[in-house]
Amino acid sequence: MILYGLRGVGKTVLLTRLRKDAAARDWLTVHVEAGSRRSLREMTGEGLYGPLSDLARPSAGSQLLRALKTALSFKASYDSTGTWSFGLDLSGASGGAANSGVLLTDLTKVVHDVAMAAGESGAGLAVLIDEAQDLTADELTTLAAIMQSVATDDVPALFALAGLPSLPQTLAEAKSYSERFRYHPIEKLGRSEAEAALVEPASGEGVRWTGDALSHVVAAAGTYPYFLQQFGQESWNVADGTTIEVNDARLGVALGQNHLDNGFFRARWDRTTGAEKSYLRAMCPEGDRSVATGEVAARLGRSVGSLGPARATLIHKGLIYAPDHGIVAFTVPGMAAFIDRQVP
Ligand SMILES: Nc1ncnc2c1ncn2[C@@H]1O[C@H](COP(=O)(O)OP(=O)(O)OP(=O)(O)O)[C@@H](O)[C@H]1O
Ligand SMILES: [Mg+2]
Repeated sequence: MILYGLRGVGKTVLLTRLRKDAAARDWLTVHVEAGSRRSLREMTGEGLYGPLSDLARPSAGSQLLRALKTALSFKASYDSTGTWSFGLDLSGASGGAANSGVLLTDLTKVVHDVAMAAGESGAGLAVLIDEAQDLTADELTTLAAIMQSVATDDVPALFALAGLPSLPQTLAEAKSYSERFRYHPIEKLGRSEAEAALVEPASGEGVRWTGDALSHVVAAAGTYPYFLQQFGQESWNVADGTTIEVNDARLGVALGQNHLDNGFFRARWDRTTGAEKSYLRAMCPEGDRSVATGEVAARLGRSVGSLGPARATLIHKGLIYAPDHGIVAFTVPGMAAFIDRQVP
């Protein structure tokens, strides 16, 4: 399952929900976030330790013992100093050997053995990877191959990857059969969903929104979950009594916008160099829509090639992505409008 979309649309919220749903069904869950300096191997290995040690018990069946032994060998493949102890004698168990050093071989083995052990009790293994666009090309290729083999071999494992809109394209380049994955674009909400996101939690606390107040916040947020959350929260805070009026909403949106400008947007803007800022400004006339790299170059009076480094670092910093070859777009809704508000 591949969840992809812009910043702040709710990918992490959904992934967390998946984890909770899986855990409620007694599935073993590994929830990791790519983009730190840790490799996929290490993230997965460390993510497995907690759930596996919860399962380890003297009465463990042979499948579980096998999974534990394989997980131990997997740990040894990236950490020669640390060892895990599940407090069990695994010397007689089968399994292990997930330490060949070849990621595909080792990860397949550990996923397979752990999922089969979970499958013994009718459950499975859920591997949830956030910010998956930050995995290396090798790691994505490996994951694509494992996801494929898991499906073919009827191993009870679910992989859910969440990332920026570039993720499907990156996966497609990683492995040809990636078209078999289930892709879910996560987008801004519909109008009635956006209203429900404001009205329902408020009414649970005995508070109502007037129609005008609601329209104002929904319009200002452009129905983006993160902005709805921010503007809704500020409106709630300024309102007195049990009704959120249009004046509360106006003030709430202004405060929320200020908050976003000084946090959400500024944090990203401040991470860019002068050359990168020029590139971003040249993207602004399109607003939130995508723009051809040739058009950006023309506006700056430069060649596309000479702007390659700025473009690459902006992608690396997560500010823009390439929806297609020769096209760039902001990863953050409203970024262009924010940049327009900044004095050059
Ligand atoms: N279903 C939801 N219910 C309530 N709030 C939500 C929901 N989905 C998203 N939000 C709000 O939007 C915010 C952003 O959601 P989330 O962090 O999941 O986005 P994201 O797509 O992971 O963004 P990023 O790409 O920046 O990681 C949440 O902190 C929350 O305030
Ligand atoms: Mg997220």
